[in-house]
Amino acid sequence: MDFVFEKTPDREARLRTARLFVKSQLGKEKDLVANLSNISAILKESMDDLNWAGFYMMREGELVLGPFQGKPACVRIKPGEGVCGTAVAERKPMLVDDVHAVENHIACDSASRSELVVPIYSNGEVFGVIDLDSPSLARFTELEQRYVEEIAELIGSSL
Ligand code: SME
Repeated sequence: MDFVFEKTPDREARLRTARLFVKSQLGKEKDLVANLSNISAILKESMDDLNWAGFYMMREGELVLGPFQGKPACVRIKPGEGVCGTAVAERKPMLVDDVHAVENHIACDSASRSELVVPIYSNGEVFGVIDLDSPSLARFTELEQRYVEEIAELIGSSL
């Protein structure tokens, strides 16, 4: 399967395609770095107006930067720090309309204005997070959250 997105303004159609591409990627390859690399590209391609899409993975109690698309980013984030660390500490997705309103937000790219972070679980433990950033306020909605949670579940159950 070629991972080519149709140019449609239908946001849900593109997210459905992303979910299908992720299933296909995970079904044909076992290497984690290869899979997360392609999934970061799939996520970036599936949504307009993103400036960063990628992964942080838990390593000895903190989040460490994984495969991503976007500008170079901060490498290590402790649980409770920033939006990603809060998602880990509270074990819940974080949908932030305006990152400037979040006191402990970590600004890797000053262009980021809104953010969606979804934990990935493996055997009940947080394996890592999917992090998406947009330069627009309130870019992410429940729709994106729902599909990104499904993609996180697909990754978690492939581990
Ligand atoms: N802004 C994030 C840090 C990661 S970067 O956006 C890639 C945060 O506050 O957790």
